[in-house]
Amino acid sequence: MKKILITGGAGFIGSHVVRLFVEKYPDYEIINLDKLTYAGNLLNLTDIEQSANYRFIKGDITDTRFIRELFQVENPDAVIHLAAESHVDRSISNPMEFVMTNVIGTVSLLNAAKECWQGNYDRHRFYHVSTDEVYGALGETGMFTENTAYDPHSPYSASKASSDHFVRAYHDTYGLDVVISNCSNNYGSHHFPEKLIPLAINNIKNNKPVPVYGKGENVRDWLWVEDHARAIDTIFHQAKAGDTYNIGGHNEWKNIDLIHLLCRIMDEKLGRTAGESAALITYVTDRAGHDLRYAIDSSKLQNDLDWVPSLQFEEGLKKTVNWYLENQEWLENVTSGHYQDYYKQQYEYNEQ
Ligand code: NAD
Ligand code: DAU
Repeated sequence: MKKILITGGAGFIGSHVVRLFVEKYPDYEIINLDKLTYAGNLLNLTDIEQSANYRFIKGDITDTRFIRELFQVENPDAVIHLAAESHVDRSISNPMEFVMTNVIGTVSLLNAAKECWQGNYDRHRFYHVSTDEVYGALGETGMFTENTAYDPHSPYSASKASSDHFVRAYHDTYGLDVVISNCSNNYGSHHFPEKLIPLAINNIKNNKPVPVYGKGENVRDWLWVEDHARAIDTIFHQAKAGDTYNIGGHNEWKNIDLIHLLCRIMDEKLGRTAGESAALITYVTDRAGHDLRYAIDSSKLQNDLDWVPSLQFEEGLKKTVNWYLENQEWLENVTSGHYQDYYKQQYEYNEQ
């Protein structure tokens, strides 16, 4: 496979996937299709944007006519689909945006792929990147496997579950070569500071309250984002058509324990006295419908395709903190909104 259309490549995980593919496969042509919503940031890709095998196209996956034309013009060999509205809290205040992008946008891409590839599916692949949140919430024990029944609770997870169903339906009905992976919480560099870890790092740095929802007892299974990108590479190249893989870190943390660990790391990095950062922890009203616990059983991926997470959590968290402290300009561009000017400076001609 040579020409790969990656959607959502200017976002957090997408930018890591784009970087990995651009650097690892110089003979591939990587097209990054992204609408550049508030979450899309081309500053995430400045290190590879001049690469000969990379191109950026600004576009909206819900614009069905544009997407059909794009497929006719570009005729990509494969799609790796990451574009989405990704933040649970935003889905609670604006569910329709999530239906549009995550459901309609995905079906728009599936339709265009089906039409463009016209049954020649053995040479083409549609890889859909999804989430463990489709499985709902766990109690104190147990893990999500690929056979766990879907039971989404938030508008975000309901929209992702719906998109997963559509992807499978295009395999079962039309024979499209599809692959799906459902991953746990990612962390690492270039993470938008609305999500727990980058938000906490930014607030601790600026001596602002660190909001912990409810009692902080919800559990998430954290995975280094570059390990997720590596898993996507492996699954994309090796999975059988129609297959699904769970991806996770075997790394469960109660939110409050994670925040205390982060506070200790921040005290150390910022030369503060022990406990200074933890004093910023503020318990706030819980998220509506807050899922108690997620935990991924990724043994299928480990056994079938030999993938395991590479980084121990405390080491990954330290690397993440270092990245944010060393990239204050990135953070300031994001929090001030200036990052959105970068597209206009670099890609003005695209707008004409
Ligand atoms: P993100 O919010 O950081 O990035 C999403 C990207 O999609 C942005 O660049 C945005 O501009 C783009 N986009 C949004 N709407 C678009 C549209 N209509 N047309 C074209 N582009 C559009 O998200 P992320 O955290 O990088 O997540 C990427 C994917 O991985 C999502 O599908 C998400 O559901 C899934 N996922 C995320 C996590 C996680 O922990 N962040 C875990 C598992 C799965
Ligand atoms: O599990 C995979 C999912 O992980 C992805 O599909 C989503 O796209 C991604 O956003 C993430 O969802 P979460 O809701 O788990 O991530 P978030 O960082 O928003 O929250 C992590 C936990 O921390 C969750 O239990 C809610 C809590 N939280 C979050 C924020 C933003 C707080 O306590 N305080 C906060 O300020």
